[in-house]
Amino acid sequence: MAATAPSTLPGPVPAAVGIGLREPHREAFVAAGCPVPWVEIHPENYLAPGGPRLAGILRVRRDRPVSCHGVGLSLGSADGLDPDHLMRLRAFYDRLEPGLISEHLSWSVTDATYFNDLLPLPYTEDSLDRVRRNVEHAQEVFGRRILVENPAACIAFADSAIPEAEFLAELSARTGCGLLLDVNNLYVSSVNLGFDRTAWLGAIPADAVGELHLAGHARMTLDGEELLIDDHGSVVGDAVMALYADVLDRIGPQPVLVEWDNDLPPLEILLAEAGRAQKQLAQKQLAQRLPDGQARHFGMPEAHCAG
Ligand SMILES: [Fe+2]
Repeated sequence: MAATAPSTLPGPVPAAVGIGLREPHREAFVAAGCPVPWVEIHPENYLAPGGPRLAGILRVRRDRPVSCHGVGLSLGSADGLDPDHLMRLRAFYDRLEPGLISEHLSWSVTDATYFNDLLPLPYTEDSLDRVRRNVEHAQEVFGRRILVENPAACIAFADSAIPEAEFLAELSARTGCGLLLDVNNLYVSSVNLGFDRTAWLGAIPADAVGELHLAGHARMTLDGEELLIDDHGSVVGDAVMALYADVLDRIGPQPVLVEWDNDLPPLEILLAEAGRAQKQLAQKQLAQRLPDGQARHFGMPEAHCAG
């Protein structure tokens, strides 16, 4: 087999604030000189083997590290992972060379039927073993570690026997996967389900966390009770920014992403949100006496695939 030429693409994903790059913003983002240090995309939007969309994101990749946040792998599926989807993702990743790859702790596929949602799973020994098998399979096919994101929950399963943070910690220990800590999801779930955010953070292995997410959420009233919904359709709320500070205190500087998926604002608004989050991150880096240019970088290590 011929030796692979070393990549000339920028990387790894730095401990700085990036944005979720959506197609309506892509051209303006490039025209503005790619004004954040890295971006995150949903790989499912680019799985066609050619065409202007793929060419457009490969153009962005020439200038910036990219994190890929999958929305269709369905790590909680009892049937295992869809082999065709896995291979399409792998072909895209081989071409794009993303700095980070992440997926959700959820399920969305059963009996070859895809639901357009990230559905919750109970936290039991059975589901932990099922997700373990699927994470190991994904890491084996991709040839690298993935990050798994904590979900936003509205309800809890009566038969969930393992606290969420312990479930994620055990998943990381058994598979070698990293964790994507979504600060907004943690806030939303803790309010909806009434659990202690500090205890949750205390149970998460800090050195397994490879990325943070920030986003806005909505409030609705259901049967007289207030419910938070992670709709990613507004600026990051004050309470989530305060929790972000707590997370930085405990976990340390990380690649941080501002997600905005619904009611997409002008690019300038999204960049302003990233600037606000970057200011807080820079203060933390300064407090830790990490000079500019020497901030910790979090690339993807080679795969550690058990089994
Ligand atoms: Fe997220």
